[in-house]
Amino acid sequence: MERTDKMFPEGFLWGGATAANQLEGGYNEGNKGPNIADVLPGGKIRQKVRIDPTFDFTIDQKKYNYPNHKGIDFYHRYKEDIALFAEMGFKAYRMSIAWSRIFPNGDELEPNEEGLAFYDSVLEELLKYNMEPIVTLSHYEMPLHLIKEYGGWRSREVITFFERYARVVFNRYKDKVKYWLTFNEINSGLKIPLYGLGFIRKAEEDKYQPTFQAFHHQFLASALAVKHGHEIIPDSKIGCMLLYAPVYSYDCHPENEMYALEERRMFNYFCGDVQVRGKYPRFINKYFKEHNIDLDIQDGDLELLDEGKVDFISLSYYMSRTDKKDNAGAGAGNMVGGMKNPYLKASDWGWEIDPTGLRISLNELYDRYEVPLFVVENGLGAYDQVEEDGSINDDYRIEYLREHIHAMGEAVEDGVEMIGYTPWGCIDLVSAGTGEMAKRYGFIYVDLDNEGKGTLERKRKKSFYWYQNVINTNGQEL
Ligand code: BG6
Repeated sequence: MERTDKMFPEGFLWGGATAANQLEGGYNEGNKGPNIADVLPGGKIRQKVRIDPTFDFTIDQKKYNYPNHKGIDFYHRYKEDIALFAEMGFKAYRMSIAWSRIFPNGDELEPNEEGLAFYDSVLEELLKYNMEPIVTLSHYEMPLHLIKEYGGWRSREVITFFERYARVVFNRYKDKVKYWLTFNEINSGLKIPLYGLGFIRKAEEDKYQPTFQAFHHQFLASALAVKHGHEIIPDSKIGCMLLYAPVYSYDCHPENEMYALEERRMFNYFCGDVQVRGKYPRFINKYFKEHNIDLDIQDGDLELLDEGKVDFISLSYYMSRTDKKDNAGAGAGNMVGGMKNPYLKASDWGWEIDPTGLRISLNELYDRYEVPLFVVENGLGAYDQVEEDGSINDDYRIEYLREHIHAMGEAVEDGVEMIGYTPWGCIDLVSAGTGEMAKRYGFIYVDLDNEGKGTLERKRKKSFYWYQNVINTNGQEL
């Protein structure tokens, strides 16, 4: 497909996205402490342990495989990998800082110099190629000690630890990083509290109170980070990060549409409302009442939320979700749940593919908040085949990305203000959901299998050259 109409603004940030725990490896090097990703086994068992209240977070190398320990060895190969990103023409690279490289346990008073120095080197390498770093402060990699000793974000004390961490990295990298994101997919805590909120609900405990109290703590931590970030780096742009999946009503039955509206509000809007508007939305009062949630809100908390409003919204977009009140026949296989949508095809992992859903998402978000948007994750997890001649012909990935970029261009024409696009897993990395390597998103193939075997050699896929041309033509040639 070739388009001649210009859709993307000058200076649009084309690039790619990763997270420290999914690609760095070096899990116990450089004085890094263990984090939650380090204790999650690979394979199907991962989905079980993350909701198992008896899971004790112990590493048992004899019993399990821990793919995040090695990642794709970016820790030692970042120069080679960044050179490949530069070859594709990346204008930006979204990465995260592993909190436990900077504060190995999370609650120390002084940071770990080796961890700080590592990211200095990574950032310098990016800047060498004029790539804008987009840095997530917390991407599913909370220090394990904070989870075990403090119960993750249940504890109000963790706010102080996060605040210290944020101040340290803002001060250290203030001349290198202007774009920051606070918590990756903050709303995912509604689905999988362990990743985002740092705890598994105990079997006997109420589902709602601890979850929303933990959210309150995270909102305060995010607001503090925004405040400090703006003081320390006056020209910084600090965003929230939402897992966004537009919610469709299964049919035009008003009850189903009402249900879809409620789900949309809770999953898509609740966190954004607090982080962008700086206050709890009115609809949440009824929800709190119905679920006996009584938040401990202390003096100054609500003022802080107002003072720590984000500058932009970043989002991940992989799928839409189709809901029916009784959800009969549910189980489309989407990570976010819902019914099967008869109009959509799905990936090999059951995630429904819906480019128009991206255009809808961007319009919904912009209509509601009127702040710039940044798509910092999108992509197709797929099995790739290396041919005998070494080539990887991932036409399915090109098709997926082409359609999504096209939909994003339509949103720009609709009037949505966009900062950039950094598709997920620009280099193959460990899947967050399943711990597999076989679920690949990259433009760059990494020779590594689910059991951790392989040479780690990097190869350019067909999509590498395709995306290079997309960037080169600022999205005019898809
Ligand atoms: C997002 C996460 O939910 O989806 C990433 O921010 C994750 O960390 C990505 O890797 C894709 O999910 P998965 O399970 O295919 O790795």
